Amino acid sequence: MTTPAKQLQQRIKSREATVGVVGLGYVGLPLSISFARAGFPVLGFDTDSRRVAQVNDGEQVMRHIPRKAMRELAQGGEATADFARLGEADAVLICVPTPLDQHHQPDMSYVEAAADAIAATLRKGQLVALESTTWPGTTRELLLPRLEASGLRAGEDFFLAYSPEREDPGNANYGIGDIPKVVGGHTDACRDVAVALYESVVPRTIPVSSPETAEATKLMENIFRAVNITMVNELKLVLDRMDVNIWEVVDAAATKPFGFMPFYPGPGMGGHCIPVDPFYLAWRAKEFNTTARFIELAGELNMAMTEHVGHRLIRALNDDGKAIRGSRIMLLGVAYKRNIDDTRESPAGRLLELLEVKGARISYHDPFVAEYRGRKSTPLTARALRDCDAALVVTDHDDVDYALVGEHVPLVVDTRNVMASLSDVKARVVRA
Ligand SMILES: NC(=O)c1ccc[n+]([C@@H]2O[C@H](COP(=O)([O-])OP(=O)(O)OC[C@H]3O[C@@H](n4cnc5c(N)ncnc54)[C@H](O)[C@@H]3O)[C@@H](O)[C@H]2O)c1
Repeated sequence: MTTPAKQLQQRIKSREATVGVVGLGYVGLPLSISFARAGFPVLGFDTDSRRVAQVNDGEQVMRHIPRKAMRELAQGGEATADFARLGEADAVLICVPTPLDQHHQPDMSYVEAAADAIAATLRKGQLVALESTTWPGTTRELLLPRLEASGLRAGEDFFLAYSPEREDPGNANYGIGDIPKVVGGHTDACRDVAVALYESVVPRTIPVSSPETAEATKLMENIFRAVNITMVNELKLVLDRMDVNIWEVVDAAATKPFGFMPFYPGPGMGGHCIPVDPFYLAWRAKEFNTTARFIELAGELNMAMTEHVGHRLIRALNDDGKAIRGSRIMLLGVAYKRNIDDTRESPAGRLLELLEVKGARISYHDPFVAEYRGRKSTPLTARALRDCDAALVVTDHDDVDYALVGEHVPLVVDTRNVMASLSDVKARVVRA
C-alpha cells in the first residue's frame, strides 16, 4: 500500500483525521454527527450561510435530529462556507443534492460545483468520497477528471471512492450506526482507505469491486422500493373495484415467512429519493442504447396514483351532493412520509394543485410542517374540522388525533388506512 494511504489510515485510527462533509442537509448532518461522536474533528461545508450559522450555533434544524445531537456537533466540529478550507480535511465526503432538472434528467450541477471546489485545494493524502445518489459512472467520469486536473493521481496521491448514503430520516430503528455501508474504490488502495474511515462509524462495510457497483447498488435499492410501491398502488386500484381491501391483503400476505416483503399503498411516492433516483438509471440506460421500462412505468403510474386520489375525493364529495368548487378540504400530513418534516416531492403538493385548480379551498394540518406553500398549518380543533367538507389523509403522522377528525368532519378520504382501527367513527370514510 502506498505511503499516503498508510498515513491516512493511521490518522483515521488515531482519530486525528479531520472529516470534511460537503452539504449539511438530511444526509450530511447525521453523517457529521456520527463522525463527531466517534471522536473525529469534523469540518462541515455548505453554500448556505444560514445553515452554516445554525450548525455552529448547535441549533435544531430538523425535527428528527435532536437538539442534543446538534450541540454535540457544534462542540466536536465546525461549519463553514469558506471552501478554501477544504484542504484542511483529511477525508472529504460529498453529500450534495442530485435532483432532476426540468427535462427530468440528472442535475449534476451540485456535484460538479463540489468537485471543483475540492479540486481547487486537493492535496496529497486526502480521501474524497461521494455519497450523493447518482448514475453508475459518476465517480470515475465526472469526479476523477476534475480532481486529477490538479496534477495529483487518484490511488497514489489521493483516494477516491463512492459510498452511498442509506440514511432513512425519521427511522427510529435504523440510524447510521446501525446500517452497513457499501464502499467502492477507484483502486484497491482507495477502497481500503474509505473502508477504514467508514468502519469507524458503521457496524459493517461491504467493499465492492468498483465505484460503479456501489453507485448501481444504491439505485437498485431505491428502484426496488419505487417499483414495489407502485405495484401495490396498482393492486389497490384493481382490488378496490372488486371491493377487496388491499390493506388486509398486504397484512395477510406478510405472514408468509419467506419470499414476500410488505409494501403499503398511499397517494403516490414522494421525497427527494424514491421518485427521483430511478430516473438516474433510466437516463444512463439511454446512453447505452437500452431502456429501463419498469422505472418509466413506475414513474407514470405514480403520477396517475395521485390523480386517482384527487378524483376519488371529488367523487366522494359529489356523492354527498357537493361540488369540489368551493368545498373546504383539509389535507392531513403534507410531509412526504410519516413523522418527518420533509415536504420535497410530496404527493400533498400535487394534490393541493389538482384540487385548488378545481376551486377547492385548501387548508392543511401537519404537526411537523408549520408552513407549506404559503399556508400555515391549521391547529387540529373540533371547530376547524367542523368547518371542513372533507379531510384527506395524505401522510399518516403518529401525532394526529384521527378520532377527532372522524368525529367532526363529514367525510374522510383515507389513503393510509389510519381510520380502519378506530371505532364509532361518525364520518363517512372512503379508502383511496
Ligand atoms: N434525504 C434522504 O433521505 C437521502 C437518503 C439517502 C441518500 N440521499 C442522497 O444524498 C444526497 C443529499 O441529499 P439530502 O437529502 O441530504 O439533500 P439536502 O438538500 O437536505 O442537503 C444538501 C445540502 O447541500 C448544500 N449544498 C448544495 N450545493 C452545495 C455545494 N456545492 N457545496 C456545499 N454544500 C452544498 C445545500 O445547501 C444543502 O444544505 C442526494 O444525492 C440524495 O439523493 C438522500
